[in-house]
Formats: sequence, C-alpha cells, structure tokens
Amino acid sequence: MDKISIIGGKKLRGTVKVSGSKNAVLPLLFSSLLVEGEHIFHNVPFLKDVETTCLLLKYFGCEIKREENSLKIKKQKKLQSIKAPYQLVRQMRAGILSLGPLLAKHGSAEVSLPGGCAIGTRAVDLHLKGLRQMGAHIELIRGLIVARVKGRLKGTRILLDYPTVGGTENLMMAACLAEGPTFIENAAREPEIVDLAEYLNKMGADIQGAGTDLICITPKRILYPTEHTVIPDRIEAGTLLLAGAITRGNICISSCVPRHLDAVLLKLEEAGFFIKVDENSIELSAPSDFSSVNIVTSPYPGFPTDLQAQFMALMTQAKPGSSSTIRETIFENRFMHIQELVRLGADIHLDTHTALVKGGSLLQGAPVTATDLRASACLILAALVARGETLVHRIYHLDRGYEHLEKKLSSLGANIKRLK
Ligand code: EPZ
Repeated sequence: MDKISIIGGKKLRGTVKVSGSKNAVLPLLFSSLLVEGEHIFHNVPFLKDVETTCLLLKYFGCEIKREENSLKIKKQKKLQSIKAPYQLVRQMRAGILSLGPLLAKHGSAEVSLPGGCAIGTRAVDLHLKGLRQMGAHIELIRGLIVARVKGRLKGTRILLDYPTVGGTENLMMAACLAEGPTFIENAAREPEIVDLAEYLNKMGADIQGAGTDLICITPKRILYPTEHTVIPDRIEAGTLLLAGAITRGNICISSCVPRHLDAVLLKLEEAGFFIKVDENSIELSAPSDFSSVNIVTSPYPGFPTDLQAQFMALMTQAKPGSSSTIRETIFENRFMHIQELVRLGADIHLDTHTALVKGGSLLQGAPVTATDLRASACLILAALVARGETLVHRIYHLDRGYEHLEKKLSSLGANIKRLK
C-alpha cells in the first residue's frame, strides 16, 4: 500500500502548473453518452477517478483512447449496457452522472445507488426528484436506481431544494434531449457547471445562464460530438497555494483561473499574505507572521468545502495566541482530518459543525492516515511544516483527485517522496 514520506521544514519556492479539473472532467466524460461519435477532451488529468469513469464508459460500450493528456471517447449508437454496476459506482460516486445522459438518450438506465462516503451520506434524492418531474419513472430496487421513460423526457421547471452540483449537472445533461425547454432554478453555480454547459453548447445544445442560479436549456433534436479543453483544477490550485502559504514560501501557480478562487484569495489576504494575480496565474508571498481568520464553507462562489481541510492545516500555523473557527455547512462529516492533525500536535476542538483551531502549534512529524481525498492533502500540507518525518498512509485517497501532487511539491523544494 503506497504511503508518502515528508520531512518538514522547507519553504516552497518557484512556479508550478495546475492540471485539468477533476470535478469538470468527470461530468464532461459522461456527457459523451448523449450523442454517438467521437468526443475529444484535452487537458485531462491522470487520476484514479478518470480511470474509473473510463471503465464505466467502456462497460456501457464506448471505445476509449488516451493520448497523453487527451482522451478520445467513441460512443456507439447502440450501447452494450445501460447499467452502471455497484463495483464501479461505489469507487466513485460521480458514476451517478451517467443517469441523466443514459435516460435522455436511451430511455432507460440502471445506476447503482452511490453509497455514502467518508465525508457524508452523499444523497442523490434531488437528482431523482428532478428526473421524475421530467417524466421519468424511477424505482429503487435492491440498491439499484432503475429509471425508465416512455418516449422522451419532458422539459419543465425544476426548483432545486439545494444547489446540488451533481444534481444540476445530471439535470442539465438530461434536459438537452428533452421535449421542450427546462428551467433549473436554485442551480449550482460552480465553474465546473459552466465548463459542462460550454461543451454541451459546442455539441449544439442551447444552454443559457450556467454559472447563475437560473439555467435555461432549450433542447435540440440533434447534437454533434466535438472537442473540448478541460478547465484548470481550482481545488488543486488552492491546495498548492496553501502549501506555499503554510511553508511561508513564495510560489506562483500557473495555468489557473484566479477568479475561480476569489473566496480563498480574500481569506489569504485577510490573514496577511501577499497575493498577486495575472490572467492565468497567482503569486503568493508570505509575511513573517500571519493571522487566524474564520471561514464558513458554502456553495460557489463561497469558500469551497474542498479546501476546508487544507485551510485548517494552515490555520494551525497562524500567530500564537490567535484562533480561528472553521464551519462546514456542505457535508455532515468532513472533519476526520482533525484527529490526524491533532496527532501531529495541532490544538483543534470540534463543536458539532464548527472547529476551533488554535494558532501557533509546533507540529511534529508522525505516522498519520488519510481518510478521504482532501484530508490526505491537508495532512501533506501539515507535514510540510512538521518537525521530522511524517508518513501519510492510505495515499490511494490522494490519487483519486491529484495528478502527481508529490512531484509538484517536490519541484517547489519540498522534501517529499512516495514509498511503495
Ligand atoms: C461535487 O459533489 C464535487 N464532486 C465535490 O467534490 C464537492 O465537494 C461538492 O460538489 C460540493 O461542491 C464532483 O464534482 C465529482 P452536491 P456532489 O450534490 O455533486 C447534499 C472532491 O473532494 N445533496 O453539491 O456530490 C449532499 O448530501 C469532491 O473533489 C442532497 O442532499 O455535491 C451534500 O451534503 C468531494 N441531495 C450536499 O448536498 C442531492 O440530491 C452537496 O452535494 C444532492 C446533494
């Protein structure tokens, strides 16, 4: 089982390039199910979740060809299967994003109900509610979502109880082949939604309002496969920036979209860091001392839940005597990294959904265990400033969502290596 060894104490310096976005590329790959022919995606990161998505698409009968960071998906008119099996969906919950396209294109879909995961129940009731409103007949049979529609889905007005990212993506894809327009209100506004809408429109769809809370989809009878370059990963960019911050380094993140990280940059400036943004790069330099700041995670454009754990690691190093509160509002159990940070010497107390993080902790290297994708990044950041060696176990979590993170950190001067 791979683990990562980090010897703390090095200030990170230099420039590092961000990879393509995991949370943009997954729905983009599933959108290929909407129309036969060859879809070509560029800037596709090498991630476990991308591999799992390709396995799922092959299971449906698509042909996949990887050429460096480009991926070609050839979807046949007739699929071999319309069933997304448990053994694949349980590895990657985003398998639920096959439901909308399969139902819209083939009139039926059987997708395993994604289990919960370490960070929460990860319900999909809003996906199903929206598809039912579009005329789908959906039953849950022995852990399987069995969905059917007679003829085509019907466009309609859908007011989401919550701005679910995956729910918005599933419904937006389904609506592209429905009969009549669909209006998704209280839609999620994440940049990954905008990227998906851009590709769907390139395929010939007519989607207006992606990135706002009202998305209007006017369906087109015929869509055409085409090419698309995946946006940069804002969460990887934020993680690398926080690695520079926690080591009080001076780094530049290139090939990113600074405005996708506005909420995080504002918090770093509030804490006392110096931030300079260019069209597609962010430069950070650190003050000798920085302050604690409070964060509350919320849907985009608020502070991203996917950077909460990494920011918590940073707050353990704020000036002594200060403390910050970190409130998680998106997932019910996204604080498992706290116990592991405490093992490294952090002083953190959890009160239901709010963590109180004391600044000025002198962290000491120790063996720790990653519990989920972003927790693994958090522990690596903490290890960069811990005295001595830290071994991060269960690093397979990291490989789901970061492309060669240890190589990127090493290129910035970190003393980090992967142990077999
Ligand atoms: C996406 O997950 C991301 N994953 C997550 O990133 C991210 O944390 C999340 O959005 C929020 O930004 C991908 O894009 C592949 P949601 P998703 O539907 O779509 C509840 C990472 O680390 N909810 O917005 O699953 C749900 O239980 C991952 O890269 C319902 O109750 O997020 C959760 O508490 C982690 N019913 C909250 O909403 C539903 O039908 C947010 O879920 C749908 C969601």
